[in-house]
Amino acid sequence: MITKRDHNRKGQAMKKSTPQISFVAPDVFVTSVLNPSMRVFDVVMGTKYGTSYNSYLVSGTTKTALIETSHATFATDWLEKVEAVLAGSAPDYLVMNHNEPDHSGAVVALLEHYPDVEIVISAAGAINLRHITNRTDLKLTVVKDTDSLDLGGLTLHFMMAPLLHWPDTMFTWLPERKVLFSCDFLGAHFCEPRLFDHAVVYRRAFTAEIKNYFDSIMGPFKPFVLKGLDKLNDLDIDFICPSHGPILTKGCELENSLQRYREWAMPAQKDTPDAPHIALFYCSAYGNTAKLAQQITRGVTEALPAAQVDSYNLVETEPDILTAKLNDADALLIGSPTINRDALPVVWELLAGIDAINIIKRPVALFGSYGWSGEAVPHLAQRFEDLKARVFEQKFKVRFVPTDADLEAAAGFGRDFAASLSGH
Ligand SMILES: Cc1cc2nc3c(=O)[nH]c(=O)nc-3n(C[C@H](O)[C@H](O)[C@H](O)COP(=O)(O)O)c2cc1C
Ligand SMILES: [Fe+2]
Ligand SMILES: [Fe+2]
Repeated sequence: MITKRDHNRKGQAMKKSTPQISFVAPDVFVTSVLNPSMRVFDVVMGTKYGTSYNSYLVSGTTKTALIETSHATFATDWLEKVEAVLAGSAPDYLVMNHNEPDHSGAVVALLEHYPDVEIVISAAGAINLRHITNRTDLKLTVVKDTDSLDLGGLTLHFMMAPLLHWPDTMFTWLPERKVLFSCDFLGAHFCEPRLFDHAVVYRRAFTAEIKNYFDSIMGPFKPFVLKGLDKLNDLDIDFICPSHGPILTKGCELENSLQRYREWAMPAQKDTPDAPHIALFYCSAYGNTAKLAQQITRGVTEALPAAQVDSYNLVETEPDILTAKLNDADALLIGSPTINRDALPVVWELLAGIDAINIIKRPVALFGSYGWSGEAVPHLAQRFEDLKARVFEQKFKVRFVPTDADLEAAAGFGRDFAASLSGH
């Protein structure tokens, strides 16, 4: 269905050294650049299969529009592709669906070559892009939901998609070719030189990366994911062109991806409000905090027999499992001894994966053994206060080795915390 060709948009034969030009549909060219060797994205996200910074060029009979740019590191490669497609003409518009630097990194380089390009952008995007480029001469046209742009025989329709995953995000829909430019939404860090989902050899690895991408980037915004999907309900889409990874095509991964996004974003069904899922995380150098964890679990289940309490030793469980449990649980119990006047690094690493939106108002209780100064529990409590969690007023600390009375008190602490949950 889709073939690479060696002609640019004017139908001129390309020289051997010119980048090969691919297209999604007639008049919709691919100007993406590949980054196969990337292993970490945005400092925190592992990317086993590299990524691509996807960009497209839509060529109407009167106007041309680029959809996004690339990471700054690849600005030269990207511009070469753009020039090859344009064959001497200048683009009229640059549509910025989202302005994170992996998409806006080559905006300035583009303007050096084509200073008259008009940038089509959301209101929030306009503010972001000014601060990202630090340029006051950008020719910005702010669009809102349902606005459209005529390219001559082809029309770009803009759909605001806030918080998928920045406030600036929008989708761009090209009805005449049934192509949706979805930005990071439905994307994956998966470098596929042949560009399309049906060309991917290791399909399972690719779909696993779609899930990883969802968890890392879209997971904190699940209600917005559902709103974004609802906006696409009535569209008859043949191609979803995301800003990272393979293009999704109808009959291949397109329908699956939309369906899986909806499943992942649906709120978990609760059997009864009295059966909360409580995740307890702890670490313990000499077993003291571990003993407290055991007794606290006992106390919780005594007070709330229907509760599901899952306890995790932070050094024995895979980090991605821990993060998933951390963000899915209805309430959290976190225990750390004090070592060098703080909670241990494994606990802070766990908290680095917290979903900063869903943690708001979630009940959290802190405990731990300490020797003399005991900062772990108050430091953790402060962190959860800052995150606007509902921090249980009792903080359970025991000096060195818990006595039998301490263990009983730990169970009492668990009972009280459980009671505070059922009271809400
Ligand atoms: C290397 C090291 C550093 C410690 N630093 C502190 C400290 O700064 N403040 C404190 O209150 N206790 C400190 N302690 C004492 C521990 O918090 C105490 O031994 C505690 O009972 C350990 O609990 P656990 O068995 O759950 O690891 C330290 C212990 C170790 C081994
Ligand atoms: Fe992004
Ligand atoms: Fe991105």
